[in-house]
Amino acid sequence: MHSINKENKQWWKEAIVYQIYPRSFKDSNNDGIGDIKGIISKLDYLEKLGINVVWLNPIFCSPNDDMGYDVSDYKNIMPEMGSMQDFEELLKGLHKRGIKLIADLVLNHTSDEHEWFKQSRSSRNNIYRNYYHWWPAEKGTPPKRFSFFHEEGAWTYDALTNSYYLHYFSRKQPDLNWENIVVRKEMYSMMRFWLDKGVDGFRLDAFTFISKDINYPNIPKEYEHDCLSYYASGPHLHNYIQEMNVEVFSKYDIMTVGEASGIAPEQALLFTATERKELQTLYHFDHANWGRDKNNLYYPDTSNRKLSDLKKIFTKWNDVFKTDGWGTAYFTTHDQSRMVSRFGNDTVFRNESSKLLFTFLLSMRGTPYIYQGDEIGMTNIRFNTIEDYRDIHTINYYKHLVANGKNTQAFIDAQKEVSRENSRTPVQWNNNINAGFTNTTPWLKVNDNYNKINVALAEDDADSILYYVRKMIALRKLLPVFVYGDYELLAEDDEKIFAFTRSIDDEKILIVLNFCNESNVFISSSSFNISNATTLINNYNTKPNITDKQLCLQPWQAIILKLN
Ligand code: GLC
Ligand code: CA
Repeated sequence: MHSINKENKQWWKEAIVYQIYPRSFKDSNNDGIGDIKGIISKLDYLEKLGINVVWLNPIFCSPNDDMGYDVSDYKNIMPEMGSMQDFEELLKGLHKRGIKLIADLVLNHTSDEHEWFKQSRSSRNNIYRNYYHWWPAEKGTPPKRFSFFHEEGAWTYDALTNSYYLHYFSRKQPDLNWENIVVRKEMYSMMRFWLDKGVDGFRLDAFTFISKDINYPNIPKEYEHDCLSYYASGPHLHNYIQEMNVEVFSKYDIMTVGEASGIAPEQALLFTATERKELQTLYHFDHANWGRDKNNLYYPDTSNRKLSDLKKIFTKWNDVFKTDGWGTAYFTTHDQSRMVSRFGNDTVFRNESSKLLFTFLLSMRGTPYIYQGDEIGMTNIRFNTIEDYRDIHTINYYKHLVANGKNTQAFIDAQKEVSRENSRTPVQWNNNINAGFTNTTPWLKVNDNYNKINVALAEDDADSILYYVRKMIALRKLLPVFVYGDYELLAEDDEKIFAFTRSIDDEKILIVLNFCNESNVFISSSSFNISNATTLINNYNTKPNITDKQLCLQPWQAIILKLN
């Protein structure tokens, strides 16, 4: 059986990450927008939760076309968020509490308001011209490229120099030309700037897109939306990440996590194996796409939500990192809907299912990520009209449907399940106006259910999700088996119960999760006996119902047993 050796032990494997979407965390100056001082005012809350790394979404200067993912100045703080001094104070406050900070690194594109792009578009001879991808119009229309935010495609014509520029995301997010060594050097120096300030690592945004085939071959129509083959993972991707590692990462004791959309399990180790000297970890999208319409991710497909498929996804990704590299356990981010609305039951069993999902996250292999507000069981906002949306991703697709005379109601209904806005609404702190997030109109509406779901209520209730999350975090930190133990899936075809073991040296734990609204029975395999097992955690207050080889579970019940 596997045991822990010194080389394997790393702080970033033991970390428990909490993601802060600063715009919606806490507003300190009542302009309706969350800010750095707001985070500072909640440092004790973070410390008490027990997390030890914060991933902070972008706080750099930005016109916010894509909420900070369109950076106009990488080395300064967006005034709405505060000042550099505020940032330094935040970092100090976190470090004082033993919490590290990883910054969000937007590598693939800048804002069109970045000085580099302003120069670049000004003339074909400008020294910044090659910082971006341009296609001279006299060569004809550029080959069709897909854009995540514009159905019209990723090339936009700019009359000033009679050329098209490339943007895989919004028109205000022109793609940087990583072929240009000067661009890469600029980016590396920017990274060192933040690391020298004391930042503890990076989340690499959309990093797989930085290398592309700049011969722009024509793409067969059926592959037009296939990011895996034609948009992500271009010919020089590994060279760039290796260079980045030599120039930046290797010089610091930091954590790196790549946003690996389009990366298949077979490719994951090429990025994360220790000897490759690229990244430490990455996170995939396979379960994010589970239950979505494969041909159009703007729509859910509820007929396609088998628990056995979810098990396959998590197990496959666990196996990838069995002996090398390292993975991530997460249910949601600022780009997906709320954890409990998506994977649990956000009405009758909101409390139980949230606790179950946390039991899962915090007992999987891979570094767990908690998204802000999930620790109190916040739910999808489910906006009824397009006017409530602020996200370019939703708004642009809606406009496209209108322009083409398509059904907008079906789209709005679908967004109640899938929209990114679901997880971006302000954190619900208390019963005061706007949930205590701000005294004025917030940038995005607060969920009406804040009278029932908020941090103050959770603090007053020993049975709350928040209490349970703290307890589960403490448990993970206590027993190394949660971090370093082997993972083995049990009862793989069971469509109701997700059960697995983790084991290391002579320690073995059994995690049993009833992913459903009805009671169920788990029958233990003959290789171990559960009748004399110790209960490590249980999300119901009643004693676990264990007989010989059977464990009776109530709806959404989660139990971890230590097998003796
Ligand atoms: C990543 C971010 C997302 C953003 C996109 C473009 O996927 O997480 O929020 O819209 O990159 O930068
Ligand atoms: Ca503010």
